[in-house]
Amino acid sequence: MKLIIANWKMRVDLAKALKLAGSVIHFIEDKRLAVKLVLCPSFTEIEEVGKLLGQSGVELGAQDMFWEQKGAFTGEVSPEMLKEIGVKYVILGHSERRALGETDAEINKKIKAALKAELVPILCVGETLVERRAGKEKRVLARQLKIDLEGVAGFKQIIVAYEPVWAIGTGVPESPAEAVKMHAHIRKVLKSLYKKAERGIAIIYGGSVTAKNIGGFMRHEEIEGALVGGASTKAVEFKQILKVAAKYD
Ligand code: PGA
Repeated sequence: MKLIIANWKMRVDLAKALKLAGSVIHFIEDKRLAVKLVLCPSFTEIEEVGKLLGQSGVELGAQDMFWEQKGAFTGEVSPEMLKEIGVKYVILGHSERRALGETDAEINKKIKAALKAELVPILCVGETLVERRAGKEKRVLARQLKIDLEGVAGFKQIIVAYEPVWAIGTGVPESPAEAVKMHAHIRKVLKSLYKKAERGIAIIYGGSVTAKNIGGFMRHEEIEGALVGGASTKAVEFKQILKVAAKYD
């Protein structure tokens, strides 16, 4: 079953979040779609969206969190606080956070804290356009994965999202064939890090995924799902994405 993660970023207010979530749950149930869905609303909406999800099987995710459990950290949200309101997944190291200064060392602390709290980290990695043009993409991915996952062991599940920075929110996705190659590279790096444990790691693609292009990605076994930003905030388009993804059960 493919895994679809909706990253609503800071784009959806509470009324829209509830409407979107309700419409999507209804659609999945009605069509009996074989797809695993995680919704990642803003912090202020998680709890209300969670109540709506109830026993639907659709899971809750957060878009970020802090690595400490408790203390004088104004403005931060801890893993335990997220767990308390039903969160199961957390996006970490998104390029929009890296662009604001988040480092791989910090992402590493967050991954460890998430796993300790039994949250499933969705680790985002990807190269910039400059790095891609310089042919450095594989090196960049290997470096990010090594630092972000340093000392991380004994986990049940981690999701790695390959998100080329130049493809996020631009309308210019990676080609499925290239994405497959990059996923294979990520798998290889993970194997060198983990040997057997890498079985607990799913690799998904993100960056300008739409209803039109999702099928091209999902038909490849190596691409285990998608992280969808902009298109996940439009009900009609997102439902179409889920419908197509469910064909590749
Ligand atoms: P996008 O965003 O689908 O709007 O390109 C993807 C992401 O930021 O995860």
